[in-house]
Amino acid sequence: MNALTPHHQIAVIGAGAMGSGIAQVALNAGHRVVLYDAAPAALERGIASIDIAYRRLLEKGRIDAAAHAERMGRLRQAASLDDLASAALVIEAIVENLDVKATLLRKVEALVAQDTIIATNTSSLSVTAIAARLRRPGQVAGLHFFNPAPVLPLVEIVSGKATLPAVADTLFATARAWGKVPVRCASTPGFIVNRVARPFYGEALRLLSERAADVATLDAVLRDCGGFRMGAFELMDMIGHDVNYAVTRSVYDAMYQDPRYQPSLLQKELVDAGWLGRKSGKGFYDHQADAVRPAPRVAGAAAAPRQVTIEGELGVAAPLAELARAAGLALDQIDAPAGRLRVDGVLLALTDGRTATRRLAGGDGVAVVFDLAADYAKAATIAIAVADGAPAGALEAATGLFQALGKQVIVVDDVPGLVVMRTVAMLANEAADVVQQGVASAGDADLAMVNGVNYPRGPLAWADAVGPAVIEKVLANLAAHYGEERYRSAPLLQRRALTRQPLHAPEAAR
Ligand code: NAI
Repeated sequence: MNALTPHHQIAVIGAGAMGSGIAQVALNAGHRVVLYDAAPAALERGIASIDIAYRRLLEKGRIDAAAHAERMGRLRQAASLDDLASAALVIEAIVENLDVKATLLRKVEALVAQDTIIATNTSSLSVTAIAARLRRPGQVAGLHFFNPAPVLPLVEIVSGKATLPAVADTLFATARAWGKVPVRCASTPGFIVNRVARPFYGEALRLLSERAADVATLDAVLRDCGGFRMGAFELMDMIGHDVNYAVTRSVYDAMYQDPRYQPSLLQKELVDAGWLGRKSGKGFYDHQADAVRPAPRVAGAAAAPRQVTIEGELGVAAPLAELARAAGLALDQIDAPAGRLRVDGVLLALTDGRTATRRLAGGDGVAVVFDLAADYAKAATIAIAVADGAPAGALEAATGLFQALGKQVIVVDDVPGLVVMRTVAMLANEAADVVQQGVASAGDADLAMVNGVNYPRGPLAWADAVGPAVIEKVLANLAAHYGEERYRSAPLLQRRALTRQPLHAPEAAR
């Protein structure tokens, strides 16, 4: 696999947020870059924004004045498309419209050499459909950067139906030579990241619509229990609800209204109201300068438990036993078929996708369920839910236990799968389908989510740590609870749950 070398010229079309960022990435890697935009003012702005970005690096001491001048010296404005003729790679980052992109790229194709690679930065259009409108569809691929392109490492290398393997290989090697983290995927709706990430927003919106907790509290659970860099609501406010809603709609429609991707009425309300998030000053949160950020609702102090018994294997929650020991709690351990904690007579268990109410009513004795944490040893917060009709003292016992382990406790309404478990199960489910359907490998799916959207772990590796059988059971229980196809489990997940093999098992095992 040969990467393009610095002597290859790169052309970027569209000098907006993405195009100017991509041009900067290519300049950083030593290429001569020619930048074109249909709007001369946009081209000026794009060039100025690259210059400003380098000035900032200069101020921070990350580059010196000579490097700044040398890089800007390799950047050229194209007066017309003809100036792109000698490029070895053309990257298109213009308006997200299939006709406009295809029309432009047909013109470009007629100007450049036969072996020039034509890449599109589209995030939602079919690379196959764009390529089909050109004479040499084999030379066309997706090169999907994330915003801001100079900062975010992930690049999805998207192969359309006709893309030549050598073209995808060259782009992969080139992105890596540019210091990026490339992943390969097939041209399917949302590619990897915009598809696998849908449940992160979708489940949070669903939980809010069911009034499991308020926005700030759900965000706190995702952050401080789930280990996500940002909660779903603050992240949607940052992305912009118009953009986030449009991506969800586009994936939903492209998947023929598969209920898994169903958009949320709550988000549509925000879009209709013009509450688009940070950019409009209001979204789920108030972003005005004088706004007070609402605090999550945290449980009050409860007494430490007198006696804790660990029954059976706690699985992914096993570090809790270690913490209890370290906290000096009176602790004993007994063999039992199911992993549970008996705290002053109250039974607690990791959520399995059923509500605590269903478990208690069903006779398994569990009165309190707790959520999945990214890392039980380090998590600052644990979310719990208490069954309707739980014995008196159940809430106090569970709260007192986790507080004695140094955790803050958040009590959410008794929703199935709680917050983090349900989110992770649905992310892993989506990633499993991406693998099963040949969109991307398990390794690339996880790499994409860690590098594209900063997840604390790849969803498949996370599901492996929890246990594919546990994840599959959570989904089966969610499906039973709601009676909705949205929660059907991916065939690959079912298989790995049955054979107790990890989702990351080598391809040969498939
Ligand atoms: P933008 O609106 O900031 O910039 C687009 C630029 O293309 C404008 O300067 C416009 O004058 C120019 N343009 C429009 N039609 C043209 C034509 N026919 N010929 C030449 N120039 C033309 O848009 P942005 O955000 O940079 O997005 C560009 C592409 O990148 C889109 O396909 C978008 O879906 C994709 N993308 C955007 C991301 C984002 O977060 N903004 C992330 C990843 C991909």
